[in-house]
Amino acid sequence: MIEIKKLRKEFGNVRVLDDVSFEIREGETLGLVGESGCGKSTLGRTLLGLEKQTSGDIFFKKKDLSTFSLKELNSLRKEIQIIFQDPYASLNPRMTAGDIIAEPLDIHRLVNTKSEREEKISQLLNLVGLPSYMRSRFPHEFSGGQRQRIGIARALASEPKFIVCDEPISALDVSVQAQIINLLKKLQEEMGLTYLFIAHDLAMVKYLSTRVAVMYLGNIIELAPANELYKTPLHPYTQALFSAIPIPDPVLERSYHRIILKGEPPSFTNPLKGCAFACRCPHATAHCKAVRPKWKEISQDHFVACHML
Ligand SMILES: Nc1ncnc2c1ncn2[C@@H]1O[C@H](COP(=O)(O)OP(=O)(O)O)[C@@H](O)[C@H]1O
Ligand SMILES: [Mg+2]
Repeated sequence: MIEIKKLRKEFGNVRVLDDVSFEIREGETLGLVGESGCGKSTLGRTLLGLEKQTSGDIFFKKKDLSTFSLKELNSLRKEIQIIFQDPYASLNPRMTAGDIIAEPLDIHRLVNTKSEREEKISQLLNLVGLPSYMRSRFPHEFSGGQRQRIGIARALASEPKFIVCDEPISALDVSVQAQIINLLKKLQEEMGLTYLFIAHDLAMVKYLSTRVAVMYLGNIIELAPANELYKTPLHPYTQALFSAIPIPDPVLERSYHRIILKGEPPSFTNPLKGCAFACRCPHATAHCKAVRPKWKEISQDHFVACHML
């Protein structure tokens, strides 16, 4: 559905996306994990056209986005949507839930009459598990979970094919996180949606994702089917990241080997010649620091960039 080739994004002299290449397949959930600040949201926003890339190409259904006419770009905006981390900050406090949800309908002129608009708002509210009478309420009158449901209803209004979910549950109480995740899963099955699911919670990503991409300092360093990646992480960074997943069993937890990463991640302002992870990697050699590792398919559908593999 989406193909990204050597995507680079710089803010001034800060390179936040460093020649990222991968594809998102129709109907899948591609999980995207990595430490805070590594470039996940920037990747999502660039895919949506909210940020312009510095170089590289984005293809949507095999068509180069940079060749889209204004009309095609407009219709693309219907097909790809985003759900934000903080449902409160992303909803206009002075608009009613109904008007928020109907915004994409109004912008893209998807409804013709007032009654059609009202009907569509009801449908969307019900789709995300809210009663239609809540349409006249304002964002502050809802709980966090309900606000995220409104954000989801708004994203669905234009009947998109692809949705970027940018940490959609990290601002919510643990008790409602599972409800929102299950709602997203149900909607995907019913509507045949494709997701890029950005998250911190590795267990949640595993539960939801078809494949998972691991990002480190503006680079995708490993990408594999979810089960495979969690069973056999290959990149030293992925291994370190996954070794930090909290394990509920206290006995297991104590005996579990945690890999503690030393040092701070190198700064974005100082583009590195070699592997971005080299200065924190327990296995790094001089070669790792000097030469960028190639993106290799180690086994069927399991990609990794590391000199040691
Ligand atoms: N508009 C911007 N201008 C300058 N720097 C930015 C901008 N947006 C993001 N950044 C920087 O890009 C880096 C990656 O940010 P982000 O994509 O939000 O990471 P993540 O979502 O993984 O936490 C950060 O260092 C951030 O400060
Ligand atoms: Mg982010």
